[in-house]
Amino acid sequence: MKKKSIIILGSTGSIGTQTVEVIAKYPGLFRVVGLAANSRFDLLSRQIKQFKPRMVCIGDQAAGLPGPDSPGAKFKLVKGPEGLKRLAALPGADMVVNALVGSAGLEPTLAAVRAGHDVALANKETLVAGGQLVMQAVKKKRVRLLPIDSEHAALHQCLEGRDIKTVKNLILTASGGPFRNHTIKQLHRIKASHALNHPTWSMGRKVTIDSATLMNKGLEMIEAHHLFGIPPERIKIVIHPESVIHSMVEFNDGSILAQLSTPDMRLPIQYALTHPQRLPSLVKDCRLDELGKLTFHKPDRMTFKCLDLAYLALKRGGMIPAVMNAANEIAVKAFLEGRIGFLQIPELISGVMKEYRSAAVRSVSDAVSADHSARRLAEELLNSYQGK
Ligand SMILES: NC(=O)c1ccc[n+]([C@@H]2O[C@H](COP(=O)([O-])OP(=O)(O)OC[C@H]3O[C@@H](n4cnc5c(N)ncnc54)[C@H](OP(=O)(O)O)[C@@H]3O)[C@@H](O)[C@H]2O)c1
Repeated sequence: MKKKSIIILGSTGSIGTQTVEVIAKYPGLFRVVGLAANSRFDLLSRQIKQFKPRMVCIGDQAAGLPGPDSPGAKFKLVKGPEGLKRLAALPGADMVVNALVGSAGLEPTLAAVRAGHDVALANKETLVAGGQLVMQAVKKKRVRLLPIDSEHAALHQCLEGRDIKTVKNLILTASGGPFRNHTIKQLHRIKASHALNHPTWSMGRKVTIDSATLMNKGLEMIEAHHLFGIPPERIKIVIHPESVIHSMVEFNDGSILAQLSTPDMRLPIQYALTHPQRLPSLVKDCRLDELGKLTFHKPDRMTFKCLDLAYLALKRGGMIPAVMNAANEIAVKAFLEGRIGFLQIPELISGVMKEYRSAAVRSVSDAVSADHSARRLAEELLNSYQGK
């Protein structure tokens, strides 16, 4: 495999740091030419020393980061959303790993694709907010969009070399999160500290809350729809608490293919970075004989309403998935800050979605303005909750 030049957007986060681990295992295969982070400047500074990138992007607060003039640091420093787009389009790069969180990832993904770079995508919100735009750009520029989300990496592996017309259903597995057996009454009492305690995965705060509400699975269903072109009614969700089967494809002859492994994000990250090659990974062997049994259940859609909101958003189409995603980001932040309860997350999202008609998303500015407007409305609704 030719040595690849990689840009990591969100290098200090959960996916970003695991990407760094995979890259550090194969120094002969990868060169890191760009890094972006928002607030964890100590860690970012260590990564800059380790990789000596050509360009670094930070959020608006630059305090603590060694500037490009510091001894030994020879990188171009860029900032904010414009800086992210510039970094994503850095000439000479082969692949951009998008491990940003939230819809802030959409424009950098598009910038990377338009610059002709392959994208390894963890940032599922990119496809929720602007799936059609991104997939059109990917086709036009003939670049590869490789999913890092473990479910989509699993589907990608099961679908490779198959005729998509032979697919009956995609089956996304979900751990069910920490509250999968809770009743609505129990969910009333949930605090952020309980929700941040995920049973199988250690992840960033936003995706951990999304897993607890099942919105994560809703976002992934929309992501799968755009990646593989399968309509929502043929994307099924099954709760699988052991998180060993990462997803499955059911074919028209009744066969189901699945991808299994120890739950560890370094595997799908490596799969995206080295595709189509398979190399030994940092992931522990999956010992099915030690696991004993794997279990499956239907999701409780009456209690976890975010899942149906995502199906509804995709059915309504146009800007509604972007609106839903923005409202979810505001609701999750408010929950983490203790401003609303767990059950008010879907209530707020649904309240925002009801106010929008499904106008088409023709350009990135349509998606961004739907996102901004839904955030403002969500904040207004939040204030009205708190005024009660
Ligand atoms: N974690 C997982 O296991 C997992 C699994 C599947 C999919 N995903 C998806 O992967 C994405 C990332 O998740 P995560 O868990 O890695 O999130 P995370 O731990 O919160 O990391 C987010 C990263 O983005 C950076 N960032 C945020 N806003 C930024 C901005 N405006 N400019 C530059 N950098 C910015 C953060 O920087 P600072 O840290 O410096 O603030 C951090 O490096 C999400 O879309 C998530 O749904 C995650």
